[in-house]
Amino acid sequence: MNSYRHARADSDGEKQTAARAAVRLIRSGDVVGLGSGSTAAHVVRFLAERVRNEGLRVVGIPTSQQTRKLAEQLSIPLTTLDEIQQIDITLDGADEIDPDLNLIKGGGGALLREKIIASASRRLIIVADSSKTVPHLGEFPLPVEVIPFAQPLIQTRICALGARVCLRRDPDGTAYVTDEGHHILDCSFGEIREPGNLAAKLRAFPGVVEHGLFVGMAAMAVVGKDQEVIQLERAARFTRE
Ligand code: A5P
Repeated sequence: MNSYRHARADSDGEKQTAARAAVRLIRSGDVVGLGSGSTAAHVVRFLAERVRNEGLRVVGIPTSQQTRKLAEQLSIPLTTLDEIQQIDITLDGADEIDPDLNLIKGGGGALLREKIIASASRRLIIVADSSKTVPHLGEFPLPVEVIPFAQPLIQTRICALGARVCLRRDPDGTAYVTDEGHHILDCSFGEIREPGNLAAKLRAFPGVVEHGLFVGMAAMAVVGKDQEVIQLERAARFTRE
């Protein structure tokens, strides 16, 4: 998966610390949304440990083919939205988290399925290393998933909103294609002061399938900071463990 942020040297350690703590929030009997990306992969590995060692009974719904593959390899029981449409808890990563727990997601390209699963979840818990917490969203380019036919038109329209827009490409130069067969435009807006407002503008363009702004969706963020775990709740309350 692509990643734009230059990770801190210890960011993978922080991701693991956060993932280990977040997985403790899962209870036996839960239907668990499984996010995508490197942090979510740690979540899947720690969850598999709990299933194996503690006999935790869970069923997972993955947000990408990559996560599905990993969960299958680790023998986590899985289901689909055909069978279950109410998810108890989803653990997923993020590219940026602001103090109101608004997010930019989609650096790994799975934003559409991630948002669908988040919308069906009682609780969306974001798991991240400390580099992801920011005062304002927007330093990370906002991924916008589009229907390939509409891509040039949407690119022009998003540029007119003031962003620098790049079509995401694979290393061989061809356009990146999402699990649902769409393209992604990475849009650099600079500081996004009103994410809800921008979200509404983007959704109004026919051909935009989804965007990576998750506004008011996350209940909590579990953030690894050095060896510590910090829990951020919507009102920006900080709790140290
Ligand atoms: C996947 O599409 C994303 O939303 C990821 O959750 C996000 O990019 C964070 O990825 P890492 O956990 O790999 O930093």
